[in-house]
Amino acid sequence: MKNILVTGGCGFIGTNFVRLLLREQDYNVINLDALTYAGNLENLKEVEDNPRYRFVRGRIEDAELVSTIMKEVDAVVNFAAESHVDRSIKSARPFIVTNVLGTQVLLDCFRKAGCKGPFLHVSTDEVYGSLSEDDPPFTESNHLLPNSPYSASKASADLLCRAAWKTFGLPVVITRCSNNYGPFQFPEKLIPLMIINCLEGRSLPIYGDGQNIRDWIYVEDHCRGVLAALEKGTSGSIYNLGGNCELTNLEVVETILRLLKRPRDLIEFVTDRPGHDRRYAMDIHHAQKELSWKPEIDFETGMERTVRWYLDNRKWWKRILSGQYRSYYEEHYGKEL
Ligand code: NAD
Ligand code: DAU
Repeated sequence: MKNILVTGGCGFIGTNFVRLLLREQDYNVINLDALTYAGNLENLKEVEDNPRYRFVRGRIEDAELVSTIMKEVDAVVNFAAESHVDRSIKSARPFIVTNVLGTQVLLDCFRKAGCKGPFLHVSTDEVYGSLSEDDPPFTESNHLLPNSPYSASKASADLLCRAAWKTFGLPVVITRCSNNYGPFQFPEKLIPLMIINCLEGRSLPIYGDGQNIRDWIYVEDHCRGVLAALEKGTSGSIYNLGGNCELTNLEVVETILRLLKRPRDLIEFVTDRPGHDRRYAMDIHHAQKELSWKPEIDFETGMERTVRWYLDNRKWWKRILSGQYRSYYEEHYGKEL
């Protein structure tokens, strides 16, 4: 049985990954999470008493804490990040601290503790920049051409991981995934924001002309891809993961309106995001061949499940919207978050 450090396990994808590990695998899981605005301890309340699970509140750039934890760790999966592009445009600093410095601290402590590995770093298609309509999808050998402070910080972390592999021979594996959706996604991202705005009768703000294209993947498919890369990936390799599902933002929002039976006039076109990437698309042949992985859940099925989850978990997102999700931590630990 392996001891695995999952960072950022209280965020959207980390939560789904920790649940998958405890449900279907026999790893012991240490979840290191700072509980930023995006981290929610309530997401994992059902696994809190699992003897194979332990939560540590802390930051990945805290070298003293991380080096203590690494002493009992075999493998690492690094989800912890500042993840929202719009926030990075307002203020890049937290993105540099967590995504760049934090990743380097994890790599240093992993090396000093002599962990066996792998060190799996979770990255994004955004590091490749933007495609035009006629371009072929991104492959792992595309140049890194990030356009936002968020994607620049993720690309920096990818390069630090590569350097640790090349310089110190660390068993590093990188996955780069496209846009995720599904349960537990923080309601600042397109899909949960639009679902909740529909439910609350608010307008649906679409940036620019709504023709920007993203490749959508159901979060469980991403988690299974990360697991496959952890177990079967080759050191020094990069694996693109994606959903083979390119849609314009307008098409995504129209799907939500249809599923929730809401009128189209809720849509409001608003000022575009500065530097807004036009299109992402992923060539996933490498992961399919080497990891025997492919996305299984089609967009219609994934969206029906997602909309159902937000309908069934109104308390979860209402607490977040009113800033009260902190009270779960405070009640639980008897101290302020
Ligand atoms: P999220 O914002 O929902 O969660 C991030 C988690 O990291 C939170 O629990 C937060 O508390 C924690 N965290 C932030 N800073 C920390 C720090 N300094 N130390 C410890 N914990 C910290 O993010 P997400 O959408 O779940 O994304 C997870 C990872 O996957 C990120 O690395 C992101 O770049 C990558 N990714 C996301 C997507 C997507 O569509 N959401 C797609 C591809 C890759
Ligand atoms: O591609 C992977 C990336 O996907 C991840 O690395 C990031 O962590 C994740 O946040 C996500 O980035 P995006 O910027 O693509 O996701 P977001 O949900 O913010 O936006 C999706 C698209 O919808 C994008 O073209 C901007 C647009 N949008 C977004 C919001 C929040 C709108 O039109 N209106 C909105 O209100």
